[in-house]
Amino acid sequence: MQVHMTKDASELSKEVAEWMTSLIEQTLATKERFCLLLSGGSTPKNLYTLLADDPFRKHIDWTKLHIFFGDERVVPFNDERNNGRMAYDSLLSKVPIPKDQIHYMDTNVKPEIAASDYEGLLRKYFDDGNTTFDLALLGMGDDGHTLSLFPGNEAINQTKRWVISLYLPSQQMHRVTLTADVVNRSACIAFLVTGPGKAPILNRLLRQTAALHSYPVQLIHPTNGELHWFVDEAAYPDYGK
Ligand code: 6PG
Repeated sequence: MQVHMTKDASELSKEVAEWMTSLIEQTLATKERFCLLLSGGSTPKNLYTLLADDPFRKHIDWTKLHIFFGDERVVPFNDERNNGRMAYDSLLSKVPIPKDQIHYMDTNVKPEIAASDYEGLLRKYFDDGNTTFDLALLGMGDDGHTLSLFPGNEAINQTKRWVISLYLPSQQMHRVTLTADVVNRSACIAFLVTGPGKAPILNRLLRQTAALHSYPVQLIHPTNGELHWFVDEAAYPDYGK
């Protein structure tokens, strides 16, 4: 596990953009495609905007990128809460990734149908079941959730399926989410965590003082890949203490 400390959210986005650009370049030197799992929420928006612009844009061979989503709120694509819409507006509408290489979760069908269709897609892409995504970008909520794996929700116990749907009473919303297993098979997982709201849980996680199975985010640990935490000072004030 590697912790990358940055001053604030803006510096974090720049650091992740640089790190991602070189990871993509290195990977595409020996592989024909780069499978990138995008996180939802608000944290990655600035990163996506940076990637869509020079200097980063020109260093990435976008035609070789395949885009997936870690989870989706089951709301129409043009709803501002839709993670696919956020990524489309900030990045995917501005770079030349072939349309059939961008895989949005379908929010126009029943959530359980969207989940099984997406699982079928992932199993086709990663049929040998060894390594899945070249890079999985994840966020963490103030309650220690990640993807749409929320504390107390039975979804967190799913170990067989790669994609499931669930109802979130607190938000009166259905969600479709990847489960930990398919994410843990990534070559590289990077959490992006900023702001004081995340500090209490992040501190326990990174200082490894949290009891096991306290938070869904603890379900994420790469089987063979790398784990990176990009954090800012507000989210991890005790860094180095
Ligand atoms: C979602 C995300 C979720 C997110 C965290 C952090 O759909 O909400 O996938 O897991 O990463 O809630 O969200 P922020 O970046 O907005 O703090």
